[in-house]
Amino acid sequence: MDELKFPESFAWGAATAAYQIEGGWDTDGKGLNVWDTFTHQGGDRVLKNHTGDVACGSYTLWEEDLKCIKQLGLTHYRFSLSWSRLLPDGTTGFINQKGVEYYNKLIDSLLAMNVTPLVTLYHFDMPQALEDQGGWSSEKTADVFEQYAKFCFSTFGDRVKLWITVNEPAMVAKLGYEQAIFAPGKKETGFGAYRSAHNMIKAHAKAWHMYNTFFKEKQKGLVSIALDSDWAEPLDPNSDGDKEACDRYQQFRLNWFANPIFIDGDYPAVMKSEISRNSKEEGLMTSRLPEFTDEEKKIIKGTADFFCLNYYTSRNVRPLSTKPSGPSYNSDTGAEGIKDPNWPEAGVEWLAVVPWGLRKLLAYIKNTFGDPDIYITENGFAQSDPPVLQDVQRWGYFEETLTEVLKAIKQDGVKLKGYFVWSLLDNFEWNSGYNVRFGLFHVDFNQPNLPRTPYYSAIEYAKVVKENGLISK
Ligand code: GAL
Repeated sequence: MDELKFPESFAWGAATAAYQIEGGWDTDGKGLNVWDTFTHQGGDRVLKNHTGDVACGSYTLWEEDLKCIKQLGLTHYRFSLSWSRLLPDGTTGFINQKGVEYYNKLIDSLLAMNVTPLVTLYHFDMPQALEDQGGWSSEKTADVFEQYAKFCFSTFGDRVKLWITVNEPAMVAKLGYEQAIFAPGKKETGFGAYRSAHNMIKAHAKAWHMYNTFFKEKQKGLVSIALDSDWAEPLDPNSDGDKEACDRYQQFRLNWFANPIFIDGDYPAVMKSEISRNSKEEGLMTSRLPEFTDEEKKIIKGTADFFCLNYYTSRNVRPLSTKPSGPSYNSDTGAEGIKDPNWPEAGVEWLAVVPWGLRKLLAYIKNTFGDPDIYITENGFAQSDPPVLQDVQRWGYFEETLTEVLKAIKQDGVKLKGYFVWSLLDNFEWNSGYNVRFGLFHVDFNQPNLPRTPYYSAIEYAKVVKENGLISK
């Protein structure tokens, strides 16, 4: 059944992130990161005050993870490096050899199994020592990140050929530096998100150039950034107000980063005009959105070798019904996303299941950002605790999603190169702790050896990977 097949050498993967799975938070010389600090502060920052201290124990149980990967037959595995495990204070002043050994073992074993690693340099876990100097609020962090990237390319780049610099900068900016929901828990409403995003974009661009200038010729790898986005539709397709709100919703999230990196080195026009207008009304002399110099724009433009999309859900959008008081990212966006009551929910309140939204978003990326090679670097569905091993309904969501993905490839001509399930394992789901389970493998967090057991979804996903296609019914 050829129409159910994916293109040859399609990348089939699953993804994880260091803080969410490794544990070993103070083992073998690892430095503290912002999530260690944030979770240890308690105060219900995270549900039930869960922490990533132990998580899935992957720092010691990594061979168990490899067994899961093998059982799935994956061609690719996406994981992230713990910055403070490698460089305890974030700088190359001191290198933690034990950390280097850990990732060397992991990478070598993956390659020995014929699994291609896709490695994220930074997935939310900023070293605390750098955060103490401002973290992403400080421009200096972009330079420190560049050196960290250089260190990783020179240490692992002989074997790692696919790199992601920053995971979901929009989430870090909004939740970490504006709304105090994520670590480092800063609340600089109206400023924090834009400033931190500005520095993350610079950091990303510096890392890309570092690779391009000093490593690419020899190592022949590719570097990108992972961007998260919903698909957005106007709530009422005939309302101009809803259409404009919908456009802002998209521009303020995906295009905030994709516009500078893939198009012209600068922020979307609507972000610049809205934030500047609001800033003026607030009596400020300059816009709350920082500006790139012409030189910086040139440096930022074109700094991604492929497009990495993390997609989970969609929204119907209309203008904000009540404008929040005071300046904020939300009031600048002036849009609110609403879930259609007919969309099923998967394990967590925000995750409405909308497989066709992914197809539309892929076509949008193709048409807006120069028809790039795209990897879906995260997509998944959760179960709330306690989960069922026979997650038949959840696998149904995956199947519907993969059907839409196939249409994007075959009917819309999207150059989709790979698909990564979030996540390989149930893990520490940020503010939801261990209560929201995204794994293909169940992890029993109540047993000291943290056993992994495949869900029905894992067994079915393995069949798809093996077939390189959907199974006909
Ligand atoms: C993404 C994030 C992952 C994971 C997932 C599910 O935003 O990159 O770490 O937690 O969401 O919520």
